[in-house]
Amino acid sequence: LFSEKKKSLEGKRFLVTAGATIEPIDPVRYISNHSSGKMGYAIAEALVQRGAEVTLVSGRTALDKPEGVERVDVLSAEEMYEACVERFQQMDGAVMCAAVADYTPAVVADEKLKKSDSDMSIALKRTKDIAAALGAQKGSRVLVGFAMETQNERENAQSKLQRKNFDFIVLNSLRKEGAGFRGDTNIVSLIDSREKVDLPLMSKSDVAEHIVDKIESFL
Ligand code: PMT
Repeated sequence: LFSEKKKSLEGKRFLVTAGATIEPIDPVRYISNHSSGKMGYAIAEALVQRGAEVTLVSGRTALDKPEGVERVDVLSAEEMYEACVERFQQMDGAVMCAAVADYTPAVVADEKLKKSDSDMSIALKRTKDIAAALGAQKGSRVLVGFAMETQNERENAQSKLQRKNFDFIVLNSLRKEGAGFRGDTNIVSLIDSREKVDLPLMSKSDVAEHIVDKIESFL
């Protein structure tokens, strides 16, 4: 059955971001999030299985490099930004699945920060929005975003679609069991300017197939 899989994306190139970024505070501490990389890696695999050339820009994960994928390892949001912007012009599309830090420490301490008896706070500055930067130079490429909201999901997803110039957005249902971070399953809605399609609970690899089907409809 495997060999019968259609190679409908032969000759197409895609950039996929996956996993969590790591924002250093000092040499021993960092700010990050719960992304395991599983969703993004599943998308990279689904694209490769259809014959596409895939560059996977990956934050730190425990996953093995999928076969046939070129992986670029990055840590911070800034490194992920550089890796993506540098490559996007050569691509036919990009899927922004990484959970990128919106804020990073304003200064990274050279030495381990010492504790004292009082509380402390860390000044944070905004990171660059990778998806929006690619959206601004999208042309006829396909650009797919993700959204992870805990409130006003639908409206926020719609506004992200426009702001970042996505062709469609994959909204994770974070309130539901079996969706979102870490696990092997997800529950998502695919939202474009015309419609919202709610998919049931399924494996991340099946979600990836639906996403890649929709990408093909935009090519
Ligand atoms: O890795 P897993 O454990 O399998 O979990 C998968 C996931 C839940 C992380 C994934 O499905 C997901 O939702 N990823 C995007 C999460 C996210 O950061 O959403 P957001 O609403 O903060 O960002 C919106 C979009 O902009 C995303 O496509 C994001 O990649 C992109 N973005 C955000 C900030 C930034 N500085 N640059 C970006 O490109």
